[in-house]
Amino acid sequence: MAITLEQVAKTSIDTLIDEAALQARVRELGEQLSRDYGGQDLLLVCILRGGVMFLTDLMRQLSIPHNIDFMAVASYEEGVRQSDGMVRITMDLLTDIQGRNVLLVEDIVDTGHTLSRVLDLLGTRLPASLRVCCLLDKHERREAKVPIDYIGFQIPDKFVFGYGLDMDQYWRNLPYIGVARSDPASGP
Ligand code: PRP
Repeated sequence: MAITLEQVAKTSIDTLIDEAALQARVRELGEQLSRDYGGQDLLLVCILRGGVMFLTDLMRQLSIPHNIDFMAVASYEEGVRQSDGMVRITMDLLTDIQGRNVLLVEDIVDTGHTLSRVLDLLGTRLPASLRVCCLLDKHERREAKVPIDYIGFQIPDKFVFGYGLDMDQYWRNLPYIGVARSDPASGP
């Protein structure tokens, strides 16, 4: 059942990664990417919707020319993505990536199934290079082996939201990564 606006308003949120730490790490990643891709073509591909805030902040920390594009994915059925990894593309790129240096920008890698599917698909389009930059790596939950080239933070197996990530489609606007205080998994 969908969360009500009243429940949303009553959510007690603890901070897992505060705004200053997020911004500092994004700045570091931007500097590293600017060095690594200096003098080269670069196309940032954001997987909607959770990666949007990370993408826009990361772009502002890049000192090199780059392009952006977006794609969206979904489970074949509600809840199926985590159990068997079946993911379908619901919105494809507008850009032809053949011969381009593609950097996937993701908010979080959890089981890894989303990333695995997207990497398989984009790999068939013959990019010059295909790398991954994710803000949050929930490594304990991994089911699919996926290469991640740039990681913002390793995080524990807790339900997190904010900074683009949602709780029932809300709270994406938070400038920090939060955990619900009532979440039993968030510990004492
Ligand atoms: C989240 C996140 C990744 C995916 C990671 O998307 O943005 O795309 O889950 O999970 P996985 O590693 O277990 O595949 P979500 O389905 O929450 O959609 P959203 O980005 O629109 O919030």
